[in-house]
Amino acid sequence: MRIVDSIAQLRDWRSNVGRLAFVPTMGNLHAGHIALVRLARQHAPYVAVSIFVNRLQFAPAEDFGSYPRSFEDDCAKLEAAGVELLFAPGETVLYPEPQGFIVEPPPQANELEGAFRQRFFHGVTTVVLKLFNCVRPEVAVFGKKDYQQLMMVKAMVRQFNLPIQVVAAETEREPDGLAMSSRNGYLSAAERAEAPRLHRLLAAIAAGTTTCSNAFDQIAAAGWKPDYFEIRRRRDLAPPQTEDRERVVLAAARLGATRLIDSLEF
Ligand code: PAF
Repeated sequence: MRIVDSIAQLRDWRSNVGRLAFVPTMGNLHAGHIALVRLARQHAPYVAVSIFVNRLQFAPAEDFGSYPRSFEDDCAKLEAAGVELLFAPGETVLYPEPQGFIVEPPPQANELEGAFRQRFFHGVTTVVLKLFNCVRPEVAVFGKKDYQQLMMVKAMVRQFNLPIQVVAAETEREPDGLAMSSRNGYLSAAERAEAPRLHRLLAAIAAGTTTCSNAFDQIAAAGWKPDYFEIRRRRDLAPPQTEDRERVVLAAARLGATRLIDSLEF
């Protein structure tokens, strides 16, 4: 695996390879990321991954400083997964000057995650656009765990006419249902045992055996601080009309100091 930290090295490598699938990450890689890499491999003979903890998508009170960084370990996992290129730029490589131009996402970016994480999708879409411009992939793979992020990136690619196919990967789960996430590492043993409740409630909502407002109350009664449980239609995350059969339930809740998000299509 080639590891590059500059845009010039990346472009040089890129000019010598064919169809490329790209997996952007913030590192601290787990089996969920490796599943994205495996899916990327099905779409192109070359796979590139980026590791960049993007300050622009963290609010001042969020965990940018303490976000888990495990570069050596990540490299070993990507090497074992057969990735051809890792782009791991330092902050001044992607942001050599204050980022004055920012992607302005549509108003839906202020709902769900966006209602609780101010300007989160401004930060995500801006860095993803920059990474796309640097890597110039034919395919980019994003996980359904960050369902709204996937929708925002798809809409950005469509509206800016980027020649990139966005491929969605299913959420990888632990055997007890907990969605894999870099932030799961923040959980204490007791919190880890409690964490699958989020997925159980989403499954109950999807099965029609409970409602979003019941799930919200139940998780709060179990000591969590829920942000939202909402059913939306899959195609654009608008509130579903009666005729919208393809739905997704999305939730976010804080367990101790850790904010977990998850979603389930039904
Ligand atoms: O999902 C993530 O890890 C990040 O939001 C992304 C897409 C790499 C942008 O920083």
